Amino acid sequence: MIVEKCAILGNQSLAPNIGLIRLESRCIAPLVAAGQFVHVQIPAAGELMLRRPFSVYEIDDSRTQLSIVYQVVGRGSKHIQELKVGEELNLLGPCGQGWRLPDVHQTQAGGRVLLVGGGIGTAALQLLAAQLATLGYGIDFVVGAATARLLVFNTGLEVLVPGLKLHVCTDDGSAGHRGLTTDLAEALLSHGSYEWLASCGPEPMLAALASLAKKKRLAHQVSLEARMACGVGACLGCVVPTLDGQRRVCADGPVFDAEAVVW
Ligand code: FES
Repeated sequence: MIVEKCAILGNQSLAPNIGLIRLESRCIAPLVAAGQFVHVQIPAAGELMLRRPFSVYEIDDSRTQLSIVYQVVGRGSKHIQELKVGEELNLLGPCGQGWRLPDVHQTQAGGRVLLVGGGIGTAALQLLAAQLATLGYGIDFVVGAATARLLVFNTGLEVLVPGLKLHVCTDDGSAGHRGLTTDLAEALLSHGSYEWLASCGPEPMLAALASLAKKKRLAHQVSLEARMACGVGACLGCVVPTLDGQRRVCADGPVFDAEAVVW
C-alpha cells in the first residue's frame, strides 16, 4: 500500500449531496484492482480527522487518474464536497481485497453475470463491469436508488460497457421499475441463466440477495461497507462475523463470498 498526495482534477456534483472527485494518482491508480478502495485523509479546520474509505469508481485509460464517488453525510464528506481543483487529498491505497472474477475457462462462453448495486454502493461495481465485459460476459446490471434524482450511475453505462443491459429501479417509481433492486434481481434470476452474482449496497439488500443466490446455487460475492479506522487490518474496528470467525472488512474484504458471511 502506498500513501500518495493526489491533486484534485475535478469535483462535480452528481445529485443532491452526491459528488464525484477526480484525482491525479500516478502511484496508486496503476495498482488498483476492481473492488479495492482508497482510504482518504480529510484534514478539516486544522484538525486531522480519521481517514474515510471510498471505493475506486473509475480509472482513466492512462491509469494515472482515479475517481471516487462520495455522499455528504457528515463533516468529513462535507469538507470533500468543498474541495477545489488544485487542492490535494492524501490517499492510502490500494486497500483491501477486490472482486475475485469468475474463472472464464469454467464458465460458459458468452455467459451472463448479474450485478446489483443499491445507492452509492453501486460505485464498487463500476470497474468490475468493465472488466467482465472485457472477458466477454454479458452483464445485467440492476441499479437502484430512492428516487430518480439520486440515480447517478446509469448515465451512459450501456454505451461505455459493451454487452451491458441496465435495469433501473427507484423506491418511489420516479424512474424505471418502482420497487427494490431485489425485486428486479429476483425476476431476472427466475427467467435468466447466470454464471455469477456480485452486489454492493445496503446490508438488507445484500442479505436478501444472498438468500436468493443460495436457493439458486449461484456463486455470489458481496462488497461490504463498514466504518473504518486504520483501514489496514490493525485495529479490528471493522470486523464482521463470518463462518470462518471474525473477518476485517478493510483487509480480508471488502469483497467476501456471500455464503461465508453471517447475515
Ligand atoms: Fe482497522 Fe479494519 S479499520 S482493522
